[in-house]
Amino acid sequence: MKLKKDLLPAHQRKAKPADESALGFGQIFCDHMFLMDYDPEHGWHDPRIAPYGPLSLDPAALVLHYGQEVFEGLKAYRGVDGGIYMFRPLANIERMNRSNRRLCIPELPAAECLEHLFELVKTEHEWVPTLEGTSLYVRPTVIATEACLGVKVSKKYLYFVIMGPVGAYYPEGFNPVKIYVEEKYVRASAGGVGEAKTMGNYAASLLAAEEAHAKGFTQVLWLDACDRKSIEEVGTMNMFFVIAGEIITSPLTGSILPGVTRDSVLTLCRHWGLKVSERKVTIDEVIAAQKDGVLEEAFGTGTAAVISPVGSIHYRGKDYRVADGQTGKLSNRLYDEMTGIQLGKRPDPFGWVVKVK
Ligand code: COI
Repeated sequence: MKLKKDLLPAHQRKAKPADESALGFGQIFCDHMFLMDYDPEHGWHDPRIAPYGPLSLDPAALVLHYGQEVFEGLKAYRGVDGGIYMFRPLANIERMNRSNRRLCIPELPAAECLEHLFELVKTEHEWVPTLEGTSLYVRPTVIATEACLGVKVSKKYLYFVIMGPVGAYYPEGFNPVKIYVEEKYVRASAGGVGEAKTMGNYAASLLAAEEAHAKGFTQVLWLDACDRKSIEEVGTMNMFFVIAGEIITSPLTGSILPGVTRDSVLTLCRHWGLKVSERKVTIDEVIAAQKDGVLEEAFGTGTAAVISPVGSIHYRGKDYRVADGQTGKLSNRLYDEMTGIQLGKRPDPFGWVVKVK
C-alpha cells in the first residue's frame, strides 16, 4: 500500500509551543495526522498523511451509538543524542489488534502500521519536544463508520493517528498522587471489555473520577466487580504495591488492561533479581500492610503517566499514608531506568527502543 502525503505549506503550520515546561497533556496537536480506511471489498486501504482537522462522519456512524472503537497510547522521545526514539511500538500495535478482536474490528496490518507510525513521527519530527519529562504522545484510534442504527458489527472503519507534545499526565508530575478506593462503582468485570483499550471503559470511569476529584483525590483505585476486594487498576494506570519486599501487581484476569509499561516494569524488576508476584492483592491486605508498617511503596504504571508514585490511599473514610507521602526507592529507580532507556541514556538490554530518526 503506497502511503500518500498531503502536507501543509510551511506558512500554514502552527507555531510550536514556546514553553515546554507548560505542555500539560493532550491539548496541543501536530499539524498532520495519519488516516486509513477499511471496507470489506478493499480491506485496509488508502493510507495517507493529511493536515490535522475535523473528521466527517455520518451521524448514524456505529461508533457514535454503540461505541465500537479501540485506541492506543504510545510516545516518541527526543533522545540525548538528538535522535527520535519510540518505546516498544510493536507491543502497542499488537495490543490494539487484541482490542480489535474483542470489539469485532478487523485487525490492522501490524508491520505496515508500524512503518506508517514512523513516517508520521518523522514528518512531524520538529514537534518532538526536547525538555526532560516531555515527549510526543501518539494516539492511534479505530472507529466504526458504517451508517446504521441496528446493533451490529460495522462493515466500515477509519483508523487514524493523531499526535501532540505532552508533559506530565498528572498535575503532580512525578510527585506522589492521592488515590481514592472506589466501592460504589466498578470499572469492568471479567468477560466484559475491561482488558480492551476501548472508549466505554473510560466513559464508565468518569462519574467515579468526578466524585473523587471533588473530594480532592487525583485518581480512583478500582476494585473487582464481584466482591469489591481485589485491586484492579487505576483506570489510566496499572497498580503495583511493595509489601515486605515483595513487588505485587494484579494478574491479568480479563478485566485489567495489559499495560506495556506494566510488562516493562515486571521485566526490569525480575532482571534486577527482585521478588515479583503477579497475584491477587486485596485492599484488606494493602491496608493491613500499611497498619503493620510493611507497605513500603505503591505506584501506578502507564504510558501517559510512566511511573506515578502513590502518597496516600483513601479507604472507607480514612487516609492511609504510603512511604511517608514521598516517592519510594523502587519508584525512583524504575522511573530513572525507564526514562533512561527511553532517552538512550542507559543500555537497552531488551531491545525496547526503536530509532525513528
Ligand atoms: C496511556 O497511558 O497512554 C493511556 O492511554 C491512558 C490514558 C491517557 C487514557
